[in-house]
Amino acid sequence: MLEFITFISILFITGYSISREFKFYILSFFFGIFYNYPNLCKIVGIKRVKDYEWKAKTTETEIYLSGIIPRMIFWLLNIEFSKIRETRKNFIKIQNNHNNNYMIDKYLDQYEIKNCSIDEFRIIITNCIIRELNDKFNIVDKENEAQLLNDSIFLMNLFEGVTGNFMTSLVFFMKNIIKLLKIRKSLGKIPDALKVFILIPPLTLSHNIWTTIILNHNNLSELQEHDFLFLDSRYFCVRSSDELVMVERHSCDKNTPQNTVFGPIGFQCPANNLSFKIFKSFINYLKNKRVHVTGETPIIHHGAVNDILNKSNIFITIEPVLNKLHNTYSNV
Ligand code: HEM
Repeated sequence: MLEFITFISILFITGYSISREFKFYILSFFFGIFYNYPNLCKIVGIKRVKDYEWKAKTTETEIYLSGIIPRMIFWLLNIEFSKIRETRKNFIKIQNNHNNNYMIDKYLDQYEIKNCSIDEFRIIITNCIIRELNDKFNIVDKENEAQLLNDSIFLMNLFEGVTGNFMTSLVFFMKNIIKLLKIRKSLGKIPDALKVFILIPPLTLSHNIWTTIILNHNNLSELQEHDFLFLDSRYFCVRSSDELVMVERHSCDKNTPQNTVFGPIGFQCPANNLSFKIFKSFINYLKNKRVHVTGETPIIHHGAVNDILNKSNIFITIEPVLNKLHNTYSNV
């Protein structure tokens, strides 16, 4: 801690002579510490705001990503790091051109989900979401869809397994370098804004759907879209009007796409509407279904992403009922 304070003091004293960019970069290594000690934020010039009260200036705000993992992701997706703002704009434009409803329920109904481990269930959900997104946005031709699903699931396993731990990430990355190079090559043919659909939905939508089902097994009939929104991090950082801003995240029970789990007003996730519609379609799918969960009690790991560790020992059955939604959970 003493070394840290000395380091920050030097940074603060020299802060006026070094470039702002470099200062932000150095500070980013200690975001975790700054989050825990708000007074230190003031000293080094990080503005601290709460997601439910801050109104971001839309045109002057962009996500602040630093460090090797975001760069690895951008390299893998074959997107230039400096093009974040442009990719965001194009991503929004593409969605505005396709103002549809999203129906993953039509795909889910094609599966028999009987004593399916959560490991298998999350692959089914991811397949359904990616197929529906490919239908709407023509990410790849139909004949290449199977490969797209494979790549998407591989990336989901990669990033779910590694988020948070730098060394594990690096080792996993190196071990799978050949496969990753192949994926990178095939992604090269897809426009940048569409690549976002391959990586993020499995880690957010799919992850939130299966986790919500397992953790809310007792009252699935009451589910609303916002129940699928939970915080996977305590904060995120943005650059806004040339300041570094740490946005504290809080849970929110507003049942609209403006829910602040998607970020503060003025700077919300560009897929908030899409996400809400996909959750709605999953709620539709659950109507007149009986959900039965068996196996071990979930062991939750609270890390960078809250994850259920024993996914292969929890099983789910979803079957139609004629009149009433009924859900059960039992441990063996
Ligand atoms: C549970 C669902 C989701 C939640 C809670 C969520 C939340 C967030 C938050 C808090 C941010 C940072 C604020 C911002 O950059 O505007 C963000 C950024 C982003 N999200 Fe989401 N998100 C979700 C789903 C998705 C999905 C499904 C996609 C893609 C299809 C997506 C694409 C993005 C992108 C591209 C950005 C970065 C935008 C930028 O460059 O600033 N998100 N999301």
